[in-house]
Amino acid sequence: MKPATGKGWWARHTLRFKIILLAIIAVIVIGLAVGLGVGLTQGGGSGSSPSAPSSTPTGTLTPLPSPSARPKWQPSVNSTWQIILQGPINFGPSNTSITPNVSVYDIDLFTNSEDVISTLHNMGKNVICYFSAGSYEPGRPDSANFTASDKGDGLQGWPGEVWLNLNSTNVRNIMKARIELAAQKGCDAVDPDNVDGYQNTNGLGLTEADSVNYMQFLAENAQAHNLSIGLKNALDIIPAVLPVVQFSVNEQCVEYGECTSFAAFIAAGKPVFHIEYPSDAPNLKTADVTNYCSNTGKGNGTDGFSTVLKNMDLDGWVEYCDGQTADTPLLNTSS
Ligand SMILES: *[C@@H]1O[C@H](CO)[C@@H](O)[C@H](O)[C@H]1NC(C)=O
Ligand SMILES: *[C@@H]1O[C@H](CO)[C@@H](O)[C@H](O)[C@H]1NC(C)=O
Ligand SMILES: *[C@@H]1O[C@H](CO)[C@@H](O)[C@H](O)[C@H]1NC(C)=O
Ligand SMILES: *[C@@H]1O[C@H](CO)[C@@H](O)[C@H](O)[C@H]1NC(C)=O
Ligand SMILES: *[C@@H]1O[C@H](CO)[C@@H](O)[C@H](O)[C@H]1NC(C)=O
Ligand SMILES: *[C@@H]1O[C@H](CO)[C@@H](O)[C@H](O)[C@H]1NC(C)=O
Ligand SMILES: *[C@@H]1O[C@H](CO)[C@@H](O)[C@H](O)[C@H]1NC(C)=O
Repeated sequence: MKPATGKGWWARHTLRFKIILLAIIAVIVIGLAVGLGVGLTQGGGSGSSPSAPSSTPTGTLTPLPSPSARPKWQPSVNSTWQIILQGPINFGPSNTSITPNVSVYDIDLFTNSEDVISTLHNMGKNVICYFSAGSYEPGRPDSANFTASDKGDGLQGWPGEVWLNLNSTNVRNIMKARIELAAQKGCDAVDPDNVDGYQNTNGLGLTEADSVNYMQFLAENAQAHNLSIGLKNALDIIPAVLPVVQFSVNEQCVEYGECTSFAAFIAAGKPVFHIEYPSDAPNLKTADVTNYCSNTGKGNGTDGFSTVLKNMDLDGWVEYCDGQTADTPLLNTSS
């Protein structure tokens, strides 16, 4: 949850009320200090916040601590967006407009140049840079830097792509460098994909806790460069990871009836960038749009989501819930 600022509260209450309240708090604090003082003479004495649990029940994940600094960019709920993982974007001769004219673009970190990102910035867009953080993909500029021991089982449906050991120092160094590249290119945020190996046959014994720990690592590195970061899918670890990420990128929560889990982001004031892949895209029937954009039935929980209807290969075509369509021009694609 977003912390309250306190300013509004202070302004709304009288001085007398505040003095009485402070006196009551002082009495309670002194009482506790006297009562517990003897018990504090041994142990770690970590001085951790009082809300930190002293022990974690088995099977539950402890929420990560909130970062001390605010992210430079916190995208707002209801932001309009487009996601394109083909590309790069082809602006053509005019660099002053792009279709669709939405506020956020999520694009591939490697295939798009610094120029593409600055051109989007000049149009007032924010840019999220996508890379795979939890899988090895052949053909990326740094693919040769992964070792055999980093690699697990293949990703179903993605030939040549395999799950990565999220504990590997080598993997983490490569991802650290990818985040640095995102910062160099001027991205506002990163969208690290495939952090949910735990819910797939990964061949490495990856657990939810491994993913939470890995997201903490990625978030710290993003924050060090003033980059925002999102959690991709991974609904089981949302409560644990929510404090350190600024948005969700979700695929197919309506298809699978999972959207209420992602609604935790909206409640925390963080957008859910939501993608569905209707089978008849790009020629959607009105009934299909209605189905994927409904907040009832399998769409329960989608209030406030930023929904796009896309082709599975995430090319330039997109349809929105109001029925508007667009096709962002790309280079290197046959159209
Ligand atoms: C694009 O949207 C922005 C923000 O809503 C607006 O200021 C701008 O005029 C739009 N550009 C075009 C070409 O419609
Ligand atoms: C459009 O922007 C790109 C990237 O910033 C730049 O390389 C190109 O020269 C620009 N073209 C025009 C016509 O301004
Ligand atoms: C691969 O690793 C080497 C050695 O750590 C490093 O110098 C190089 O920059 C890396 N290559 C890429 C493309 O990240
Ligand atoms: C990753 O490291 C943690 C902490 O050392 C350990 O508990 C976990 O089992 C490791 N996971 C894998 C898949 O090796
Ligand atoms: C992050 O942004 C803050 C505030 O704009 C600035 O003081 C700081 O130097 C920036 N850090 C980096 C690594 O760019
Ligand atoms: C929608 O989700 C909420 C929150 O999980 C739940 O309380 C409610 O029963 C659900 N409504 C329907 C119609 O399934
Ligand atoms: C998002 O849009 C919905 C639908 O227009 C609206 O009900 C909701 O209040 C908006 N939420 C925010 C945080 O702007």
